Amino acid sequence: MAIERTLSIIKPDATERNITGKINAMFEDAGLRIVAQRRIRLSREQAEAFYDVHKERSFFGELVDYMISGPVVAQVLEGENAVLAHRTVMGATNPAQADEGTVRKEFALNVQENSVHGSDSVENAAKEISFFFSDAEIVG
Ligand code: CMP
Repeated sequence: MAIERTLSIIKPDATERNITGKINAMFEDAGLRIVAQRRIRLSREQAEAFYDVHKERSFFGELVDYMISGPVVAQVLEGENAVLAHRTVMGATNPAQADEGTVRKEFALNVQENSVHGSDSVENAAKEISFFFSDAEIVG
């Protein structure tokens, strides 16, 4: 089993409802270790840059507006097969399709306000981690 790192963002709908601790507990129960964490307010430029891959999608403008509507918690999670383990505990993007026991089934409001983001591959995880954190800020 490979020890990996992945980038997680707890989104504004979750920080607004003060459930970041409940979400972190689900990550930890899934075997993931929070090795970096920072609560921040994204600028419009940062949100646009982070979601650049979605810039042609119809929901891009709404997504950026939502991601800057309140604080987010950016995190690096570490563990065995962390990218897949994190995606499994997050559940499907659309909470209507998320499995029981997942963060999105439990907490997400809709497909946009879906409480959490997670990297979709090891390669993207490395890029997304370096978007938010320097090596010195990640303490495993
Ligand atoms: P995330 O995993 O962060 O990746 C892109 C985000 O865009 C996604 O979670 C949702 O917050 C949002 N998103 C994806 N699909 C839609 C959609 N159909 N309508 C609105 N927002 C969406």
